[in-house]
Amino acid sequence: MTKNDRANFGSKIGIILASAGSAVGLGNIWRFPFETGNHGGAAFILIYILCVIALGLPVMIAEFMIGRRSRSNTAGAYRILSTGTQWKWVGRLGVLTGFLILGYYSVVAGWTLQYIVQAATGSLTGQSAEGFIATFNGFVSNPWKPALWTVVFLFLTHFVIVRGVEKGIERSSKVLMPLLFILLLVLTGCSISLPNAGEGIRFLLQPDFSKVDSSVLLGAMGQAFFSLSLGMGCLCTYASYFRDDTKLPRTAVNVALIDTMVAILAGFIIFPAAFSVGISPDSGPSLLFITLPNVFQQAFGSLPLLATLLSFLFYLLLALAALTSTISLHEVATVYLCEEFHLARPKAARWITTVCAFIGICCSLSLGVGSNLTLFGLTLFDLFDFLTAKIMLPGGGLLIALFAGWYLDKKIIWEELSNKGTLTVRTYRLLLFGLKYVAPIGISLVFLDQFNVFALFR
Ligand code: PFF
Repeated sequence: MTKNDRANFGSKIGIILASAGSAVGLGNIWRFPFETGNHGGAAFILIYILCVIALGLPVMIAEFMIGRRSRSNTAGAYRILSTGTQWKWVGRLGVLTGFLILGYYSVVAGWTLQYIVQAATGSLTGQSAEGFIATFNGFVSNPWKPALWTVVFLFLTHFVIVRGVEKGIERSSKVLMPLLFILLLVLTGCSISLPNAGEGIRFLLQPDFSKVDSSVLLGAMGQAFFSLSLGMGCLCTYASYFRDDTKLPRTAVNVALIDTMVAILAGFIIFPAAFSVGISPDSGPSLLFITLPNVFQQAFGSLPLLATLLSFLFYLLLALAALTSTISLHEVATVYLCEEFHLARPKAARWITTVCAFIGICCSLSLGVGSNLTLFGLTLFDLFDFLTAKIMLPGGGLLIALFAGWYLDKKIIWEELSNKGTLTVRTYRLLLFGLKYVAPIGISLVFLDQFNVFALFR
């Protein structure tokens, strides 16, 4: 495929919705609320927003510059911009990271499909709290059901990917993202109108700085990173389809704004509802698949039809958010095979779907029949999660910031930011400072924290 016959996004709004679709995902709807819950509510949100601005935006703009300048897949991008150097490994690492994330992310995404069906058939209503725990544990440890849903989810992703950049990714984002916003608003409205919802709202709006310590800062940075899809070339790949007149800094601000708004709205769904029925928001998958059905059940128990409808809408919301993210992860690997190995798009997509289905099935089984098989004390699912989210993403992000801040020719940075001199960019120096110093130092802190290096000094 040559530079000229490469696909492009067709419209400005398509560019923003597709990029925001990659960012908005399971990370916003379950990870953000429980991090907020654990770290002092509004205080965490304030620090998170600071991290998005100081750390996330520079790295996102760097990915945009690298992608659009090279007009290539992530691996090709670094090769083109730094011919003959070892920087090419940054791109390759990104493709591998995306591939592994897609494998285990599809497992949780598949669970949302099972819960959509359960909600639609009314089997999520009329259960006790213990019933919800038993239902969830029984489901994830079942040998074939979650594996089957993982494959179904990957097929849905595959279906969009084979249709291409404009007809598949852009068109689906234009339908899925507005639908997601509507669902978010409907569910937020329902949640904040519950009795005693005020307590949850106060929790989200009144900062409690007594809970803020260094781990909160580091937790907020990690969350910003995962949530904005940074560090593996997802947004770099999407930027390779941007138009020449796309304003990169403005697009990055829009994507970060949408992603943060969705995360905060998810908080407005979960906290008022949970506080209203006196449930403390739990962490991880259990928040979504055990606590929330219990919340819907208790809050609307006297109106079973409404409880059924709201839980159905909630799992639909989750599935849509996950789908726009899996599409972006799949695209990174598919276009890599297309361009580096000259495979046709459908064939490349088939390879990725098949191998990811295999990884997904193994990850899914590792939560049930294969739970005895562990490496470093972690099941395969947890191992992939740890490897990618805690090591490969921060590592990739650090390298991206260093590449853009210290290696990339300043003329390229200027041309990309100003669209070849046609725009005035007042933030040029600030951005360069962010890329050279703030982002690398900030990301290094997150990274070191994963290995408990700071604990040695406490
Ligand atoms: N940003 C997605 C979320 O918040 O769920 C997850 C994700 C997608 C991470 C794509 C990394 C990535 F490249």
